[in-house]
Amino acid sequence: MAQEENKNQHTPHKKLKLGVFGFGCVGQGLYHVLNETHGIKAEIKKICVKNRDKKRILDSAIFTYDKNDILTDNEINVIVELIDDANAAFEIVKTALQNGKHVVTANKRMIAEHLPEIYALQQKHNRSVLYEGSVCGSIPILRNLEEYYDNDLITSIEGIFNGSTNYILTKIFEERKSYTEALKGAQDLGFAESDPSLDVKGFDPKFKLTIAIAHTFGVFLKPEQVINIGIQKIAATDLKYARENNYAIKLVARAYKKNGKVFALVAPQFIPTDHMLASVRNEYNAVLVEGAFAEKQVFIGKGAGSYPTGSAVLSDISALTYDYRYEYKKYAQGEGLPFSNEATVDVVVSFPKGSLLSPKDFETFKGGYQGNDYQFMTGTVKLEKLKIWNEWDDVSIILAPELNLNPVEETKKELLFA
Ligand code: HSE
Repeated sequence: MAQEENKNQHTPHKKLKLGVFGFGCVGQGLYHVLNETHGIKAEIKKICVKNRDKKRILDSAIFTYDKNDILTDNEINVIVELIDDANAAFEIVKTALQNGKHVVTANKRMIAEHLPEIYALQQKHNRSVLYEGSVCGSIPILRNLEEYYDNDLITSIEGIFNGSTNYILTKIFEERKSYTEALKGAQDLGFAESDPSLDVKGFDPKFKLTIAIAHTFGVFLKPEQVINIGIQKIAATDLKYARENNYAIKLVARAYKKNGKVFALVAPQFIPTDHMLASVRNEYNAVLVEGAFAEKQVFIGKGAGSYPTGSAVLSDISALTYDYRYEYKKYAQGEGLPFSNEATVDVVVSFPKGSLLSPKDFETFKGGYQGNDYQFMTGTVKLEKLKIWNEWDDVSIILAPELNLNPVEETKKELLFA
């Protein structure tokens, strides 16, 4: 009897009936991964899709076009939300929780834009929303941030948070493909968002960074607070500069805790070819966590694609069989660190000759170079200035290899009275 009880404690006890929303790249990935994985007590009961005319790989009986067929089905205890539209996704999640169902989702935009509400809804309805697949695909980062790094000793989290742009940059550098050709490759392979500007302009990694910040520092931000600079303006002259100086270019998402504040930024950066991030290629992502005592740790894995993301979604489903919930410990116990863009970074900017940029725009101007029809300038700039330059079509901004993100100290009042 004692043995029997013991055994039960270690066996997942719940049988999950899943109602899935969306059957695109990740939905189909989940279907296959679930089919191949024995030992997970979960089965798909219904899949809600939008397009009635699309040819499907499964029998039509499993599909519905009415979300209520799933949301009001008492037998379904877990909603797996894998659709594109973040607003529609949030409505589904809200109703699912209100109807007593747990949720697994990979929708980074929806989570990033609604984190405080999603946190409150989980408390109110005593249900779980898990979203490991939303940040860096197959890399198990969120549960690690929640469980392993459950104290406040992390000083920074940074890395490659977008598979499509990493794939594009790899193809441009290694195979000398054009930007357009490389982007098409990322789209054909199912890595890119249906609106690929979310990838190339750095919005997608910013959504992921916003989520990671909540689980790293216990701070809920709105994505629009974080500045995102993309790869779409990188010019041939930048590629030449990188090659001549033995750099790769990577789109890096980063957040630091400094001077009691949180700073964050998504921007391309020149990375020395012998740096660990330079060896992260194609759709692979990397997350570097730095702590006060453990120092640097690195996670690398596929950040996009049907099966890798499907496997993260499946891992969340499996976690639900053990009633797993994010506790948001750092948020719940946190000091509510303020977020700030009052910082400077070192950059290399390139632009056609005759543009409006001048050395005076820099806090510290470190040098310039003029080619036949373009110019480079390097130096230290305020983040707010980068945000303005980012709006200008012909200015390409790439962080220097040593970006030196430093808080701008407020004017020391004491000095005024000295
Ligand atoms: N478009 C995303 C990427 C998909 O390329 O990383 C995975 O979140």
